[in-house]
Amino acid sequence: MVDSVIETSGLTKKYDEKVVVKDLDLRVFEGEAFGFLGPNGAGKTTTIKMLMGLVQPSSGTGRVCGFDIVHQVLDVRRSCGVLPEPAGFYDNLTARQNLRFYGSLYGLRGRELEEKVLSTLKLVGLSDAVDLKIGKFSKGMKQRFGLAQAIVHDPRVLIFDEPTAGIDPQGAEDYRLLVKELKSRGKTVFMTSHILPEVEAVCDRIGIIVNGEMKICGNVDELVDQYTRRQGYRLKLRVKELDERCVMESLKRVEGISNVTRNNGYYLISSGEDVSEEVSRVLCKSSGVVTELEVYRPSLNEIFLEVTRPETGK
Ligand SMILES: Nc1ncnc2c1ncn2[C@@H]1O[C@H](COP(=O)(O)OP(=O)(O)O)[C@@H](O)[C@H]1O
Ligand SMILES: [Mg+2]
Repeated sequence: MVDSVIETSGLTKKYDEKVVVKDLDLRVFEGEAFGFLGPNGAGKTTTIKMLMGLVQPSSGTGRVCGFDIVHQVLDVRRSCGVLPEPAGFYDNLTARQNLRFYGSLYGLRGRELEEKVLSTLKLVGLSDAVDLKIGKFSKGMKQRFGLAQAIVHDPRVLIFDEPTAGIDPQGAEDYRLLVKELKSRGKTVFMTSHILPEVEAVCDRIGIIVNGEMKICGNVDELVDQYTRRQGYRLKLRVKELDERCVMESLKRVEGISNVTRNNGYYLISSGEDVSEEVSRVLCKSSGVVTELEVYRPSLNEIFLEVTRPETGK
C-alpha cells in the first residue's frame, strides 16, 4: 500500500452552527495529483486552511506527511508548499527579492538560495522577469510567482488553491506541465480548480465536495462507475433489418431496462445495469443486425454538474 501523505478522519469545521466541512475522510497518496473539486462555498479552502493549521478543526483529525495538523503545525508547514487563494506579495520588491524572502523563511541561505531562486523562477516561466517588481506583474505572472513561492524550498507536498483562476490558456498549459514535472520528481499535489479538463488532464484522483461533504471520490473511471450506478446505464443502439415495433417487443424481454426512446435512428436504452450482452442476444434471435451498441460514458463535466446539482446532490 502506498503511504498517504494527506489523511483526515471525520474532519469537521463549524462556524457558529453552520457546518462548513463535514466529516471529511480524505486520503491523498504519495506521488499522486489529487483534484479537490466543488462549487463555490463548498468548503475547499477551509479544508486547506485546516490542513495548514490556519483554521482550527471543530472535530476530527488530520495528518500531513505524518504530522498532526493541530499539534505539529510547523512540521506540516515545512513539508508543504502552498499557493493560497488569493496570494499576495511585496509589490515594490522584484521577483528575485520576493523569492529570496520566501526561500530564506525555509532556511535556504547563500548560494543555494540564489540558485534555487533562479531555477524556480525558470521552472514557472518567469526567467525574463527575475528583476522586475511584482507590482508590475500581470495577474498571470503573479499566479506563476505564487507557484514559485510554493515550490522554492522543494517541499514533499504542494497545495494549490485555484492555481489557474483567471490566467490565460498558455499559463494554464504551463501549469499542467509544471504539475507533471513536480510529479516526475515524486511530489504529491493537492489542488482545487474549476477547470475540469485541466483537472482531468493532471489529476490521478478526484474528490467532489458539496456543502462540506465529499460526494464522490476516485479516479475518473471510478467516478464514471459510481455515477453510472447512481444514475443508471445508458446504451446507444442501432439496428438494421428489424422494424421499430419488433425492436421494442424484443427489448421488452430484457430484464432491467427501464426506458427506451428513439432519437435520430438510434435507440437509447436506460437500465439499472449493463444489459448490452442481453440486448444483442435478443435482437440477434429476432434476426436483427446490431450495427452499433455502446455504453454511454459521461464526461467529468456531466458528473460534476449532476453531483453538485442542488436538488439531486444527495
Ligand atoms: N471565517 C469564516 N467565518 C464564517 N464562515 C466562513 C468563514 N470562512 C469560510 N466561511 C464559509 O464557509 C463556506 C466554505 O467556504 P470556503 O471553504 O471558502 O469554500 P470554497 O473554497 O469551496 O469556495 C462558505 O459558506 C463560507 O462563507
Ligand atoms: Mg476557495
